[in-house]
Amino acid sequence: MNEATALAHPNIALVKYWGKRAGKTNIPATPSLSITLDTLVTRTSVRESEQDQVEINGTVVSDKKIQDFLIQLRAAYSLPPLSIESFSNFPTSAGLASSASGFAGLLTAIDAAFRLEMSTSERSIWARRGSGSAARSIFGGFTSLEEENGDWCARNVLPMGAWPLKVVIAITSETAKNVGSTEGMERSKQTSPYYGAWTESTKSDHAAGLLAVSQQDFSRLASVAESSCLKMHALMLSSQPPLSYWNGATVETIAAVRELQGAGISVFFTIDAGPQVKTLCQEDATDIVVDRLASVPGVLRTLVCGLGPGAYVDQPR
Ligand code: PMV
Repeated sequence: MNEATALAHPNIALVKYWGKRAGKTNIPATPSLSITLDTLVTRTSVRESEQDQVEINGTVVSDKKIQDFLIQLRAAYSLPPLSIESFSNFPTSAGLASSASGFAGLLTAIDAAFRLEMSTSERSIWARRGSGSAARSIFGGFTSLEEENGDWCARNVLPMGAWPLKVVIAITSETAKNVGSTEGMERSKQTSPYYGAWTESTKSDHAAGLLAVSQQDFSRLASVAESSCLKMHALMLSSQPPLSYWNGATVETIAAVRELQGAGISVFFTIDAGPQVKTLCQEDATDIVVDRLASVPGVLRTLVCGLGPGAYVDQPR
């Protein structure tokens, strides 16, 4: 029986990706830079079956993104019908990058189960076809997604142990987002007057982010990451109809981060297509950041992560 299980962690972009080139293979309009997390994880098992069936967190679902992904994969590889089971230990579809860990794990499990013998770069390219940001979860630590030899593929830019930053996430809602990233990106591309400025400035933000990571320059990285995040949300808000992913507690949490920064704490924030606020801090500031964010009205709970590894196969013992 062909089967395998893979573990993959979500990643958080510090220089954001929001916008695709034309076509169905999720070619990003711009490069991006991210960190892969440790504690949050998606475990995905695949096995040969009589028909395709997808179960996410115990519920059988009909997922168009997964169906389209399997169609693309089957055009390149001969694969039987699949039973896919995926479990995440964190809220899915709520701006915590579950599609990144989901597709990185799914592709890694399929590659192992059917011995497709893909290289790490090939797995990254295929994971990207499922969800753009999933290309980055194939790698651990600090990861860049950029154009390489005519295709778009992620690569590791700093290993996970090299710069031990902490991530404190303020959960402000457990509800799934109402506009998915693919639809949202297309809307911004078609309607926002800022789209051209966004793609242009993201290229230089990416270069500045890479330099800050290579020099382990926290304040430079903080400035690039907050700016990229706020520009992406300005782009979303200027789309028609507007895309607004924040709630009141999101704004209150940003204010709390500003207060900590004012008190000299090394911390910065970033926010994706959802209301959660992700903060990065130096290791010794973790407790102060957790205490302050947990006290913000509307913050339901906080999660603490470090930097984690890329997607890998769970070897049977
Ligand atoms: O990979 P997708 O389609 O879920 O898009 C990810 C979009 C953001 O999370 C908002 C930004 C990013 O670069 O991860």
